[in-house]
Amino acid sequence: MKGFSDRVETVQEYYFSAKLREVNQLIAEGKPVINLGIGSPDLAPDRMVIDALKSTVEHPRAHGYQNYQGIPELRIAMAEFYAREYRVTLNPTKEILPLMGSKEGIMHLSMAFLNPGDQVLIPDLGYPTYTSVTRLLGAEPLFYSMDLAKKGKPNLEALEKLDLSRVKIMWINYPHMPTGATGSKEILRELVAFAEKHDIVILHDNPYSHILNPEPLSILAIPGAEKVALELNSLSKTFNMPGWRIGMLCGRADWIEAVLKIKSNMDSGMFLGLQKGAVAALSLGKNWFSDLDEQYQNRRKLVWKMGDLLNLTYPKDTSGLFVWCKVPEGKSADELVDYLLYEKNIFITPGRVFGPAGEGYVRISLCMPEFKILEAINRIKS
Ligand SMILES: Cc1ncc(COP(=O)(O)O)c(C=O)c1O
Repeated sequence: MKGFSDRVETVQEYYFSAKLREVNQLIAEGKPVINLGIGSPDLAPDRMVIDALKSTVEHPRAHGYQNYQGIPELRIAMAEFYAREYRVTLNPTKEILPLMGSKEGIMHLSMAFLNPGDQVLIPDLGYPTYTSVTRLLGAEPLFYSMDLAKKGKPNLEALEKLDLSRVKIMWINYPHMPTGATGSKEILRELVAFAEKHDIVILHDNPYSHILNPEPLSILAIPGAEKVALELNSLSKTFNMPGWRIGMLCGRADWIEAVLKIKSNMDSGMFLGLQKGAVAALSLGKNWFSDLDEQYQNRRKLVWKMGDLLNLTYPKDTSGLFVWCKVPEGKSADELVDYLLYEKNIFITPGRVFGPAGEGYVRISLCMPEFKILEAINRIKS
């Protein structure tokens, strides 16, 4: 064997892939670990969704290869979701591409737009995949900061002072993970103008728009965005379906065509049952979202209580699946994470995983039932 590709050296194993091995080892040793580290919704999808999947399994044609662009019914359901939830009109044939989760979309988009040596604007803090995929393709991440006191407004003034001629794409993500910064229409408008001025493609990663967020926003609702932006969306958090791996890419037909060129060479259409289940999920109405909201609001109050016990400080006007907490001055976030994991069997995530600006912070997930968060509180108290 003449060695692995140089590419392998550009990244490390994904933090959670490695850390969850450690957590699972503790569980195998009999430790009752409460996992408040990852954002994998524990609540069930709607009954209709599961029934749609089940009834498809018996269909004689369910088991063959599926269309690369998904069944028309799914693309129509996605277009209707965008029209209803964001007031965005999309052509279901040309302006929507179903994906196996938005995470794979990050790779396909990057492959469609980037050449080695291109630069990519990435938020510090941000979802680690933006950076690792950029590096895997031989492109160069250029990190930008955000003002958390201003709903996560990117520091565009600082970017304007740089040579942006090699920047091809800019990742943005509102509601923002890990901080929960909500973003706003004004911020999106400024970003569209910035992208037009510098000929940069904006890629908006939007999986948290319906979690603790009274005003779901799509960048595609901003005038002019249809020329400079694409949007990733996902059923993982919105409909409690992270393991189903269903997402979508929305926007300009010619850009989506380029992504399909890449993607259709790498995978095939999703299992029919998953697509039928997704159609059912996308048709859910206001009650689905208000019930979800109530559950997460109750959990969040308990996580705030947990934060108080640990002397953490956190903003409350946030959206998404996490509480983003600052550890007290002079204390180490990693020490707190290890103390909780090894002394109290509670797993939370150190903020540094999401970029250098995360030093001194921890991220606590809302993906545990209330009784488990209460148990975590009791363990901390004892
Ligand atoms: C910001 C962000 N983008 C994308 C994803 C990937 O979601 P999906 O399940 O759709 O691949 C996640 C998952 O945690 C996320 O936090």
